Amino acid sequence: MDELDLRTEDISTQTPSGASGFLLQKNPELQKLFFTPTENENPQVNEAKIRRIFLQAASQQWYAPQRINFDQEIVLDDESRRIWQKFITIFYTLEKMGLNVIQNMMVKAVRKFKSEEMAFYLSAQTFDEARHVFAIEAYLRKLGAPPKYQWRYHILGQAASVGAYRVENWLFSTLFSENFASAFIRNARQAKIDPVGDELCKYLLVDEGRHLHFLHIVLPDVLDRLSMLGKTYVKGAQYFIMKFSEFIMRSMEAEAAFVGLDRRAMMEEIFEHMEKSYEILGVNRQWLWFPKIYPTRITPTQRIVASH
Ligand SMILES: [Fe+2]
Ligand SMILES: [Fe+2]
Repeated sequence: MDELDLRTEDISTQTPSGASGFLLQKNPELQKLFFTPTENENPQVNEAKIRRIFLQAASQQWYAPQRINFDQEIVLDDESRRIWQKFITIFYTLEKMGLNVIQNMMVKAVRKFKSEEMAFYLSAQTFDEARHVFAIEAYLRKLGAPPKYQWRYHILGQAASVGAYRVENWLFSTLFSENFASAFIRNARQAKIDPVGDELCKYLLVDEGRHLHFLHIVLPDVLDRLSMLGKTYVKGAQYFIMKFSEFIMRSMEAEAAFVGLDRRAMMEEIFEHMEKSYEILGVNRQWLWFPKIYPTRITPTQRIVASH
């Protein structure tokens, strides 16, 4: 699971001194102090694992102005700049949506799964998303685009967090959105995004990998407790989200190709990772309905522009 989720570069996960150093020495007394979950009557999730991932999140915090050199020059031709501005604005919208949704869902999740450890962990993840939105805002300004939330994608946040089984639905939707974010970041780096974007992506990837890891901890329990009706509802919502994303990405194929992104390969990579995640949950592809990834009909003019 870690191999799938945490494909990151070597970024130090230790705090400058003190706490994590002691923890790494595997001192049993200190481990008892830090790793013992808060006593709960009847938690519905694995609290010991959630506490561990909270500690991991706490030790991996970063501060964008210190870690990313925003002073580097971004050299791009006009069309590439326009396209990156467009893609990063969508990415920004999705991250901001994620931040709004997690703030709304955190309390409900803690109550539903009767887990105080989830309150610890989800608070850390909320701050991760705030940090992402903050850093992407700065990056967008650097690219010359004012950060702007795009309401046309708002429906995705709603599909992920309203209606029946909203907590479960939100967690499963996050599995898709975190996989989506990770795939976009990895592909953007391979496509030789500018140096500021590349550094930003490197740090984002560490966090998104951890967010996926959290889902792999809680989703088996969530799925176990979900009724047949709940499962069908979640499947439907997931299908809608994936279908919508496939459709949107297809419409941007030529622009993606222009900056070196292969949208089809990226979508396949996302679905493949989703499939692996579901296998870990003990369900196969038959359980979740995956939409078809359609080829795009790029017009000859678009193809010439894309392969300029
Ligand atoms: Fe994020
Ligand atoms: Fe995330």
